[in-house]
Amino acid sequence: MIRGSALNGAPSSPPTPPVHVAIIMDGNGRWANTRGQTRSDGHRAGTQNIRRIIRLFSGRGVRYLTLYAFSTENWERPDDEVDALMELLGEAIRTETQALHEEGVRIRHLGRTDRLSPHLQKAINSSVELTQNNTTMNLNVAFDYGGRAEILEAIKKLVANGVRPEDVNEETFEKYLYTPDVPDPDLIIRTAGEMRLSNFLIWQAAYAEYYTTGTLWPDFDESEIDLALAAYAQRQRRFGRVLDSRE
Ligand code: FPP
Repeated sequence: MIRGSALNGAPSSPPTPPVHVAIIMDGNGRWANTRGQTRSDGHRAGTQNIRRIIRLFSGRGVRYLTLYAFSTENWERPDDEVDALMELLGEAIRTETQALHEEGVRIRHLGRTDRLSPHLQKAINSSVELTQNNTTMNLNVAFDYGGRAEILEAIKKLVANGVRPEDVNEETFEKYLYTPDVPDPDLIIRTAGEMRLSNFLIWQAAYAEYYTTGTLWPDFDESEIDLALAAYAQRQRRFGRVLDSRE
């Protein structure tokens, strides 16, 4: 199993930035509401924010960034909002992929693709394929993603492959998840104040540090990133062990 960064909080060592940050980008609707705009306008502002956030995290040494953009439950939202989110993903892939590729960003998609339009499926596959050998930074877009669905899908594949029960362990199981080559998240950030995981990376988040801020996603900026990273640097990660008292 791939574990994230080294332990933080030891007085003698400078804080290590998290290797993998995952974000639940909440609050687009509220952001739009306070401005008398539509929820879709809020998602558009949220998408704009993603552009700068990727570069800011990359500049701070974060190697993996996972963004929760559309959950398996989000299909229950009003049709026009679902359409807007699909539209925004297509547009973002169209306008951003080349620049991200030139900056060495590898794009992965986490989630189902079969319920997306053929056009969107093709766009996702092309951006994933184009960037597959990039190594500067990893951007994972969780779109039509659900943690429970991911685990069930993995179990179905295990069974279909005839894996024997005695060969099932954490290491073999993780190979069947959407993230076989991605380290577990070190830090999960949720904007807009809620204190829940909402079916996000529920297997991978087992030892992640959790951070929430009341700031709405479109307003989550450089200073907010620094607050989140400073809070993370204070955490003492034990992964279930007991640390030496000097640590
Ligand atoms: C939660 O805010 C946000 C979402 C459900 C979608 C997040 C999507 C984006 C930022 C844009 C699309 C993504 C890409 C990759 C282009 P909310 O609507 O639940 O806000 P609320 O709780 O204030 O109503």
